[in-house]
Order: sequence, then C-alpha cells, then structure tokens
Amino acid sequence: MKTLLYNPNSIVTVNTSGKNFKRGKELSDIGNLYDHSIVIEDDVIKDILPTQSVNKNNFEKIIDLTGKTILPGLVECHTHTAFAGSRANEFRQKLNGIGYEEIAKKGGGINTTVQAVRSSSFEELVNIIKPRIENFISQGITTLEIKSGYGLNFENERKLLQVINFLNEIYPIDIVATFLGAHTFPKEFKDNHEAYVDEIINKMIPHFAEQKLAEFCDGFCEATAFSAEEIDKIFTAAEMNGLKLKLHTEQFNEIGGLDVALKHKTVSVDHLEVIKDAAIPKLGKSDTVAVLLPGVSFFLNHTYPPARKLIEHNAIVALATDYNPGSSHISNLSLIMSFASLKMKMTIEESISAVTINSAKALCREKNIGSIEIGKKADFGLFNTSDYSDIVYSIGSNLNCMTIKNGKVIYQS
Ligand code: NIG
Ligand code: FE
Repeated sequence: MKTLLYNPNSIVTVNTSGKNFKRGKELSDIGNLYDHSIVIEDDVIKDILPTQSVNKNNFEKIIDLTGKTILPGLVECHTHTAFAGSRANEFRQKLNGIGYEEIAKKGGGINTTVQAVRSSSFEELVNIIKPRIENFISQGITTLEIKSGYGLNFENERKLLQVINFLNEIYPIDIVATFLGAHTFPKEFKDNHEAYVDEIINKMIPHFAEQKLAEFCDGFCEATAFSAEEIDKIFTAAEMNGLKLKLHTEQFNEIGGLDVALKHKTVSVDHLEVIKDAAIPKLGKSDTVAVLLPGVSFFLNHTYPPARKLIEHNAIVALATDYNPGSSHISNLSLIMSFASLKMKMTIEESISAVTINSAKALCREKNIGSIEIGKKADFGLFNTSDYSDIVYSIGSNLNCMTIKNGKVIYQS
C-alpha cells in the first residue's frame, strides 16, 4: 500500500542525519522543509520528495495536507496514566498552603491513589484509562509510556501492568509499560522498608520480567520514598532480569539518586528540579536522557528544572507531561511545551526536539521513531497551522487535526 502525504505547508523532520538523538545545540535544528511531500509504503517512510516532482498516479491513497504542518508522531515518555480515583481534595489542601511532601508524610498522596487502584477491577481500570489514551492520540501522540506504581503489592502491580499491556493490544499506538513498584512505601510496609524492597526484588521484578509485563523498571529516589541505596539494590535486580531503567530523582531533595542512576547507566533520569549545578556536566557527558516535567513545577508551584543549563552543558533533554493525579494533573503535551518555553526558556525548536526524537530515546525507540527520516516508521502528527510555532504559542489548545500511526490514519478531527 502506497500513501502520499501531499503538499503540506511544511514538514518538521527533526532530522538527525542518522544520529537519532539531539544534545545541546543540536536541539535547535529541527530540519523544517517546505514544498515537500512524504511517500509512505505500508508502515514505513519511503521517501521525502519535492512536491513538484511527485506523480500522483503512483499512489493508492493521497492525503491532501495543503496548509498543514507535519511533525513526527509525538512521543510521550513519562506518564502515570494508570490511576483510579481523584485527589481533588488534596489539590484543595495544596491551595490552602499544605505541601505535596507534607500530604505524603501524612499517608496521603500516592497512597491515596493506591487505595483507589486496589479497589478497582481490571475492567474498571481499563474503562477509566481508555478515554485518557484517546485524548493522547487526539494530540498527535503515537507512542505513550505508562507506569504502574499505584498497586504497590504483587497482585495490584501485576493488575496494573496487565491493564497497560491489554491497552497496548487494543489501541493502534505503542504503549510502553514501566514497572514502578518503587514509587513509595505502601502503608502496610511503612515501618518495614527492607521487607518491601525484598518483595520488589525477589517477587515482583522476576515475575514481571519473566512474563514480559514491563520493559522498564522505574523508581522514586526521594526523602519520602526510596533511598539511593534501596534504588541501587532494586536496579541491580532489574538489570539482572533484563529490564531497562529510569529514575525519578532530584525532585524535592538531592539524596544521591542521580549518581546511582548514572552508575547504572539508566536510559533516563526524570524531574531534576533541584539538580545541583555541579552535577549538570555529568549528564552532558552521558547518554542518559534528562526528562523534564515542567507541568509538575507549575502544578505544585515548585522550582523549574534548569533546562538552559542542561542544554548548555550538552545534555539530551526531553519533555513529558508526567500526567498523574497528585503532582501534574495535566495531560496536554503542547501545554508542557508552552511551559518549557515560558518558564524554562527553551526555544520552540528545542521543545519540538524534546517531545519527538529525544523522548523516543528516553524509551529506547529512537532508531524507529521520533523523526521523519527515510526508513523510520510512518508515525505523524498533523497540525492545523502553516507555522509550527503556533503549536507552542496557542497555549492550552490542541492544534492536531490528524494522527497517523504505522501509515494509517488513526484519528481525525
Ligand atoms: O512523577 N514523583 C513521584 N511520582 C509522581 C507523582 C505521583 C503522584 O503524586 O501520584 C511524579 O511526580
Ligand atoms: Fe512521574
């Protein structure tokens, strides 16, 4: 099947010349092309041709994109979409000046959502999460990461991972499952951290890896959650079981998480709101992606991660929503790009690289997706504008009008 994406106003290729990620200054180069059309064969990008030279008779399907802008399918690389219940009451407490960490210390926060997830069935969870996935698809997102982390025991973490894997089967986008048993300590292990870490290492990781329920293992290295030593043990077990690694770290406190992550060469480190200046060059020298989540800073009225310094020191910077009920109840990725520009001084071009090729790298999929290059998967977001700046400038709006995954139109507004 040969399809032609005909005559868009421009194609934001995010070209990497085969390198498949962008660090430092490279984030600014998004390879915007005018007067070109894209040839898709089956599920792959076959060619990118000057529109003038295209023979329309050679195609079974032609999609006229006059006036539109094409981007690579967006890659949302950090979400906690698999949650039940609401934390609106905690949001109210926050409006009254009670902090996120304070709520967590009192047994609320993540543990509130754990209760809601434990009392929801597989089917209930599927039905709660479905419209959230459809919302992501409607934004031009073609690859979506979802973490577990609200079950916090074998049975409920397994249930969440099974739900995520089931959703991957029924939706045309790629949904990447991450095991986040080390999100926080569940109430029943509040006073016995060692026993819970043991449960993660000896029961959850081996079983979930063996059943291929998760591709990544994540953790939360924080004063209210796991220490650097505990994360080190968990990561050692995860690696032995063939899981790839990610870490939530330096969000509120710097307790050694980044060094443990770099020791294990994690695929990404996420958050970094309070990363120390002295640690920034370490990221510039590593292949670990710095996933920044400015929606969290906005939602919690907290410090923003030092995006400019990270880019100046050559880090591979990505952006994500961190969509979750407690610290970023925000599921709009282009709004996150607007926050990145307005609050972290990232340019529009840097933000685009950060939600395409670099977020693909944060999910180890950079060889196949994240840029419009010949041989890559035919995943695209089509935007109803002739100027890609509008995606970031139209704050809070969704300009996506069509989503294409593996060469097929999966959403159209
Ligand atoms: O990425 N930092 C830890 N985990 C989430 C918050 C999850 C929650 O509060 O439910 C985050 O911010
Ligand atoms: Fe998170």
